[in-house]
Amino acid sequence: MSKEERNLPSHIAIIMDGNGRWAKQRGLKRTEGHKRGAEVFREICQYCTDIGIRYVTFYAFSTENWKRSKMEVSAIMNLLRKYLDEMFQRAEENEEAGYCIRFIGSREGMPKDIVKMMDTVESRTSDKSTTYINVAVNYGGRAEITQAVRDIAQGVKDGSISIEDIDEDMISRGLYTAGQPDPDLIIRPSGEYRLSNYLLWQSAYSEIYIDDVLWPDYTPADLDRAIEEYSKRNRRFGGV
Ligand code: IPE
Ligand code: IPE
Ligand code: MG
Repeated sequence: MSKEERNLPSHIAIIMDGNGRWAKQRGLKRTEGHKRGAEVFREICQYCTDIGIRYVTFYAFSTENWKRSKMEVSAIMNLLRKYLDEMFQRAEENEEAGYCIRFIGSREGMPKDIVKMMDTVESRTSDKSTTYINVAVNYGGRAEITQAVRDIAQGVKDGSISIEDIDEDMISRGLYTAGQPDPDLIIRPSGEYRLSNYLLWQSAYSEIYIDDVLWPDYTPADLDRAIEEYSKRNRRFGGV
């Protein structure tokens, strides 16, 4: 079946949730859940490329996740270092077939070495692939919109933008996801019915799919199930 016949979403956004519960169920430390979760991230990235999804956005760390224990935060940052290193190696070895990786979220407050690695990975993977992977790190939807508003206000102040020119497109262009389509489908494993500050502007008309599976147990078959259900939904965008 062709992509169109299957009605594949162009942009899938995933909230990688449930790592802690997965570890707890097994009597392991929360950090073990994050470790397994990161492996699943890698598998699902590959699968999305294989089936031809154009944009995939993974929620890895929110602006609110700093509230967690120092130990947990530092374990997550170390995992990030490990995977950034791997992404870099991949980009080096596999110039053509790699993904185009973008990090969305605030670089401010992030460890300097990680910011440097993110910049390097982004520059090495730019426009080389058919799959765009966004990884949301230190990401918050409200913070993102606030920053866009500030930038526009600055433009008004210095005379480069007039108030009449401010429209939805201008705000969209001020977000980390500028130039990308809004997510068609947002998947949240682990059974929580909330967005947790994820893609607040971009999710205006996204289809939402909640799954009980915890992220470290998530498989390509689970993703297929979400896409299958998505393909049967009737998206109306306010019309009839
Ligand atoms: C998601 O899993 C990973 C991050 C938020 C960094 P959690 O750590 O939130 O797992 P639960 O929700 O406690 O099970
Ligand atoms: C959302 O999960 C953030 C990520 C998956 C990175 P949380 O576990 O932080 O969300 P809440 O606290 O349950 O809303
Ligand atoms: Mg959680």
